[in-house]
Amino acid sequence: MKLVKAVLAVSIGAAIAAQSMSAVQAKDLTIGFSQIGAESEWRIANTNDVKAAAAKNNINLKFSDAQQKQENQIKAIRTFIAQKVDLIGFVPIVATGWDNILREAKRAKIPVLIMDRDLTVSDPSLYIAKIGTDSYTEGRKVFDWLDDYIHKNNVKPRNGGDKINIVILEGTVGASVTTGRGNGFNDALKESPNKDMYKILASQTGDFTYQKGQEVMESFLMSNRNDIDVLFAMNDDMALGAIQAIEAAGLVPAKDIIIVSVDGVKGIFQAMMEGKANATVECNPLQGELFFETAKKILNGEAVPKSVFVEEGVFSAETAKEVFPTRKY
Ligand code: AHR
Repeated sequence: MKLVKAVLAVSIGAAIAAQSMSAVQAKDLTIGFSQIGAESEWRIANTNDVKAAAAKNNINLKFSDAQQKQENQIKAIRTFIAQKVDLIGFVPIVATGWDNILREAKRAKIPVLIMDRDLTVSDPSLYIAKIGTDSYTEGRKVFDWLDDYIHKNNVKPRNGGDKINIVILEGTVGASVTTGRGNGFNDALKESPNKDMYKILASQTGDFTYQKGQEVMESFLMSNRNDIDVLFAMNDDMALGAIQAIEAAGLVPAKDIIIVSVDGVKGIFQAMMEGKANATVECNPLQGELFFETAKKILNGEAVPKSVFVEEGVFSAETAKEVFPTRKY
């Protein structure tokens, strides 16, 4: 797997695990894992990778699908505590609301390892570490790619005005990746010497799904059909849904409206190869191996970094055909 970059503070939280386990063997381990659901092609790839890495590492994985509900994740974590699993992993669907259940895990002396999204807790020792992606940097990369494209191609506003009009399809409300990608994009825009040439015309959640991406894009087009120059979709599935809406409105995706999204799944590569999308900023879902490697370290009482990010690239329509055969998800 493509691996590991940046390291932040070193966690000493592994002490919880070290109390009861030393030099644990993978085959002995039972790990409970609460996934958000199956909202996107990316999420399905992430789930498949977690399951494959668990099998490869001989982990007894108790997998639970929360069907997009935080309450289901909390219930699953409580069940894992009752089952006395060795470690609990989960993807926080939203950033807040985890303090109580994580206190229960801490009282039961079960270490918690987060995957993919971040959370905000009053006490950082409530989880040991997070494996995942850097959504703030992803948002910055989206703006940087866009600004570069607009200048290299001398793109002018479609309505003859003086602003390049952008619409944004946001992800799930309250999810750290939605906030991170939004903040990264907005900060890069505000800091750009070209900031005055851009205007964010509309921004609304499409909940990271194809269906809602299509519906929200339809409503954007209903009010601003002739003004939209750029779509920033916070994931590829929403961009793919939006492409349907753009075509149904009689416009040409990737030409009339520049489309840049996040993830890098095969679906968006197909769209780029068909000339219907312009670029995708990678969010790498292949985090399973790193997750179980880190889990084993924690259970062996080793210190691990508080945050570990997987590597991510940027891919555009120009290179899509060449890169496609190398894509793993
Ligand atoms: O948390 C990662 C995001 O969640 C991905 O961008 C998206 O596709 C998924 O549903």
